[in-house]
Amino acid sequence: MRVLGIETSCDETGVAVYDSEKGLLAHRLYSQIQLHADYGGVVPELASRDHVRKLIPLIKEVLAAANSQATDIDGIAYTSGPGLAGALMVGALTGRSLAYAWRVPAIGVHHMEGHLLAPLLEENKPEFPFIALLVSGGHTQLLKVEGIGQYELLGESVDDAAGEAFDKVAKMLHLDYPGGPNVARLALQGNSEAFNFPRPMLDRAGLDFSFSGLKTAVLNANNQTEDYPQKKADIAASFEAAIVDSLVKKCERALKQTGLKRLVMAGGVSANLRLRAQLQDLAMRKRWQVFYPSAAFCTDNGAMIAYAGCQRLVAGQQENLSVTVKSRWPMVELPAVN
Ligand code: KG4
Ligand code: ZN
Repeated sequence: MRVLGIETSCDETGVAVYDSEKGLLAHRLYSQIQLHADYGGVVPELASRDHVRKLIPLIKEVLAAANSQATDIDGIAYTSGPGLAGALMVGALTGRSLAYAWRVPAIGVHHMEGHLLAPLLEENKPEFPFIALLVSGGHTQLLKVEGIGQYELLGESVDDAAGEAFDKVAKMLHLDYPGGPNVARLALQGNSEAFNFPRPMLDRAGLDFSFSGLKTAVLNANNQTEDYPQKKADIAASFEAAIVDSLVKKCERALKQTGLKRLVMAGGVSANLRLRAQLQDLAMRKRWQVFYPSAAFCTDNGAMIAYAGCQRLVAGQQENLSVTVKSRWPMVELPAVN
């Protein structure tokens, strides 16, 4: 089955063609970073309008790159939540309409399931069951994954998401949007032990996360300590060390608690090199396996949506003709694929 995937939940227009026999045939991404940079964050109305402008040309481009005509497409997958309602609407309406016109089934995909399954696009992919650390701009979750659509929530952030914390710290340090990669870049030049920031929730049992206290500690350090040339880089490095430490410790706890030996990480923050290195290190010591998507598929993209949608379409799931998008949508509500 050959599936066209469409992602428009936030500030990237992503499209891809995935074939259940041949794998990923092509993908294209248009990032709106420039559009939102002056505002320091995503402006929802501008995002929706830009998706309208870019989506159809990108779909034409990706079909050509995949050597495919409309008649070669057997199904269409689009992100139907969670995300910005207006932005989601653009992809959902386009996907649903194209499916109607081309007389193929359509499926609305959960954005975080897309992220979660992105490591399965890689050659070296995890087998089920595994523990998943999902870290994006809107979510920080630990899940036990028995199969596609078989998710048990083990823990999540009680306040900010990990990516959101990176983005807010970036703003404090006057770094450009999107902040995560810029904080990580600056951190490379800093001393991660210069500031002893709190590792929230490590002293408590359980697998939940909290990053708002860490954020306040960073704000105070930035405002209350005397300026020196390396200060920003030291704050970035110490913040990154603290947040990575919390994520890694909770992953270790989840693996111990469940007895599983496979860890999958996904979502924008899984591109973070310190996080990857520390999880690899832990896995080496414990003889666990760690899997993550290649860099292009850590952040938002169409390939993960085409892949996740394809799995569900192959299993016979599909949408009726109505178009629904959900800005909030707990992943545990998804039906299993057997
Ligand atoms: O998954 P994603 O592209 O979009 C959402 O679904 O939210 O994640 C975006 C988030 C942003 O908060 C961004 O700052 C963060 O991922 N991010 C990073 C890195 N690359 C992206 N955070 C830390 N280090 C990175 N290298
Ligand atoms: Zn995302």
